[in-house]
Amino acid sequence: MSSPADISCPELAERMRAAGLVRAFMVRDPDGGAFVASDPLLEPLATWVEREAPDFADHEGIFLQVGPASGTLQGAFVHRTCRGQAAGGVRYWQYDSVADFLADGLRLARGMTHKNALAGLWWGGGKGVMARNTGRRVEDPATRRVVYEEYGALVTAIRGCYVTAEDVGTSVADMAAVFSRTRFATCIPPELGGSGNPSVPTALGVVRGMEAALEHLGLGTLAGRSVAVQGLGHVGEPLVRFLLECGVERIVGADIGPGPVARARALDPDRVEARVTELDDPSILFEEVDIVAPCATGAVLGPATIPGIRARIVCGAANNQLADPESDDRLLAERGVLYMPDFLVNRMGIVQCADEDVGTLPDDPRIVRHLGREDEQGIFRLSLEILGEARRSGRTPHAVALELAERRSLERHPLWGHRGLEIIRAILRDGFAETGR
Ligand code: NAI
Repeated sequence: MSSPADISCPELAERMRAAGLVRAFMVRDPDGGAFVASDPLLEPLATWVEREAPDFADHEGIFLQVGPASGTLQGAFVHRTCRGQAAGGVRYWQYDSVADFLADGLRLARGMTHKNALAGLWWGGGKGVMARNTGRRVEDPATRRVVYEEYGALVTAIRGCYVTAEDVGTSVADMAAVFSRTRFATCIPPELGGSGNPSVPTALGVVRGMEAALEHLGLGTLAGRSVAVQGLGHVGEPLVRFLLECGVERIVGADIGPGPVARARALDPDRVEARVTELDDPSILFEEVDIVAPCATGAVLGPATIPGIRARIVCGAANNQLADPESDDRLLAERGVLYMPDFLVNRMGIVQCADEDVGTLPDDPRIVRHLGREDEQGIFRLSLEILGEARRSGRTPHAVALELAERRSLERHPLWGHRGLEIIRAILRDGFAETGR
């Protein structure tokens, strides 16, 4: 049976335009009501999201916009704001249907709730999503800038209940365009006072996760080990570099682009084998190595791939690696594969964004502690703690990390309480904030 989400993104954008809607929202009425839409056009979709969308988990709100000049379908997804403003990057990606668009936004926003809470940040979870297959083509830089300026205006319109950042498909330069229309943006270029691209610390965080996994299994250090890296982009490339520095003996890498492959190989042609692969070729995950590091897209671990994994450990940067968080987590455990929860080890991107508006310090100690071995909330020690608890309780590390993250995400911000809900209440009552043009 078809659902209101079984339409294409261009079709939803067209319907919104035809109804004269630039912006619209679907939010949970903070006073205990249902998930309601701002316009009758979206009412069937809001009902479907609340009752049937597989990734809906009591999200606080979904805010949609069709860029007035670009025609791009844009969304800001707010999962939970107990710990503070919802925070997470904006993904610019191709979506086959509105259901896919909503699924990505809902799932990624929830993932950010858990990542931010586990990292001890006073932030909630949110995500921006833009459909690349809607609106004007963005090959030319001027149009691309318009897309991101319009997205910035959407973020301003929702009054700061969500703070945006960079994610797949978005660059630091794009963030400058976002920042030109909203103050609720991080990862902006250093020359504007921001922290820029967070991928290098993200890669180092993944290394810390790998080290914790090896130590937990009694396998020593990374020296002499072998690692397969799927995706040699902003995170994958520095990851290869750090692994070489740690004495990894053999690295096998794969990317769909020849450029990243050539750059990775050039780091050390003797120890790095890298190949160009197809988008639907998962064979890099099946390499005979100690560790597999998914650093490309999400949902790469599922029934079709897990049986082929020969590594003892999976630890990578990609968000939402498990296609089905429960059954695939179990399947990995049954096969004796230690899966390091993505939201535990890939936190450094958002951590780097977190303190951007309170001033910058060289080698900021608040950031460094996440990567050190001393702080019990840093990636290394917290990973060991979670792995130990998983062993003691007979659960998976993913389940243990999720429970801890969920608990922390419900703590209220010490100064601001659950202000995000107050903002959503204001939007429900008075509509979007004024954004100029
Ligand atoms: P990126 O876009 O720079 O790199 C991804 C690379 O994967 C690209 O080079 C792309 O060609 C390649 N790729 C795509 N599909 C592939 C496939 N099927 N097989 C092999 N290669 C493929 O993205 P980035 O920034 O490196 O992020 C990688 C992952 O890590 C993403 O899932 C992202 O959400 C996640 N992440 C990134 C953070 C960061 O700081 N950049 C922070 C937290 C998570």
